[in-house]
Amino acid sequence: MPEHYDVIIRGGTVYDGSGAAGVAADLGVRGDRIATVGAIAEDATAGEVVDASGLAVTPGFIDVHAHDDTLVLVEPDVTGKVMQGVTTVINGNCGAGVVPAKFSRRFGEVDGSKIPEWETYGGYLDAIAQQPPSQNVATLVGFGTMRAGALGGGKIERPATADEIAQMQSWLREALQAGAVGMSTGLIYEPDRYSTTDEIVEVAKPLAEYGALYASHVRGEGATLLDAHAEAMEIGRRAGVRVQISHHKASGRANWGRIRDSIAQIEEARARGEDVTCDQYPYTAGSTRLFALVQNGRVGDSGADAIPGSDILLAMVPQHTEWEGKSVADLADEWDVPDEQAAQRIIDEGGSGTIVVQFAMDEADVRTILAHPTTMIGTDGLGFGSRPHPRHYGSYPRILGKYVREEGVITLEDAIWKMTGFPATKFDLPGRGFIREGAIADLVVFNPDTVTEVSTYEDPRRTPIGMPWVFVNGEAIVRLGQHTHRRAGRPVRRGVDA
Ligand code: ZN
Ligand code: CU
Repeated sequence: MPEHYDVIIRGGTVYDGSGAAGVAADLGVRGDRIATVGAIAEDATAGEVVDASGLAVTPGFIDVHAHDDTLVLVEPDVTGKVMQGVTTVINGNCGAGVVPAKFSRRFGEVDGSKIPEWETYGGYLDAIAQQPPSQNVATLVGFGTMRAGALGGGKIERPATADEIAQMQSWLREALQAGAVGMSTGLIYEPDRYSTTDEIVEVAKPLAEYGALYASHVRGEGATLLDAHAEAMEIGRRAGVRVQISHHKASGRANWGRIRDSIAQIEEARARGEDVTCDQYPYTAGSTRLFALVQNGRVGDSGADAIPGSDILLAMVPQHTEWEGKSVADLADEWDVPDEQAAQRIIDEGGSGTIVVQFAMDEADVRTILAHPTTMIGTDGLGFGSRPHPRHYGSYPRILGKYVREEGVITLEDAIWKMTGFPATKFDLPGRGFIREGAIADLVVFNPDTVTEVSTYEDPRRTPIGMPWVFVNGEAIVRLGQHTHRRAGRPVRRGVDA
């Protein structure tokens, strides 16, 4: 009797996600698991045979910095992520989580009628199971959302009281029990920005009981970068938890090159035995709420972290979609006002949910951070509006094309480790991130000679080329370059191989 598999991937070069060089091997999948890695007999049969000659076969990419908390429910194809090889997203970054639901702070406006209701993190993960998207979903607990809920919303500049901290801890415990991978903060945002270090340490303490981690969009990414990183590390030490610094960068022209110091600072912490790592999206532009840039004094020509209006593009303007694609400077010229005033007017008239793309980083810094061994990959994608940052569609192929093949900044096997095994290890996702027998069959098959990001700032919703196959839990989600619309995604729980 010839052997039978559900899927055979034949003749590819397998990169197992550990950072090891590729090896020629076939792959056999049964159900949701990898059954065989090695030579598979010629006469073996399968429901689907993938000819992977000349192609790389790797674990599915784990996007450690996602904001798709609601997107996975309203747009279950999650096209931008799936087509670039992301098989698991880790949502809830930058302090923006889903509990308490009433205060759920989202990077983007969505049609609420498509979103099921939940009260708890367990309920959110159950909603993913009941209405599965095309990719797996893990979640961080958003500190900012809890803080808004505990302190009652509105203007909450004061520190939390002991009772409010206890309330936040109990939400966090529920989430960790349900399988959340950690807690995030977004310390430039409302209302996270008013929390003291002491408050965050107290709230974070339950993380240690579960071995979950602390991820932070730190309090400053420009002139105050080193202090901001020091705070994240202090919180890690005092709460007894591992630390993930979100989207490591030096933002604002005056601060370019500062990442050499922040890298040295991370290396010192690691030499002391602290588990500090970071993530990165591979672009010189960031993307956030215009409100946050204004509130942090970042629009214009003055100030240590300033970004000129010509470098700030409007990605999503809820009440004036026709402004999307223009820069703040374009409107400032039209209205004959300074950039700062134009930005405020855009928020007042266009909506506080206005999202921008801001060019504020140095290409040399992007390369240095990518090459550093503490850096793993995340998109920070915000999939809303007509002009979202292209990272939502192109981060992974951009690294594989531009930074691996064209510029040689890192090797292919190192890039794969940063996209797969490294995040699976840090975020405690057993069964994922590596190709080995018995592992879950989240897989990507791409052509290392052609894989390319084609999304641009002008036309961001274009899907990459050179990535013909993506499997999630053993099912083909991308087949010969086409989305199959299968809903094979699952909720992924910390420490659970399922
Ligand atoms: Zn952030
Ligand atoms: Cu983020």
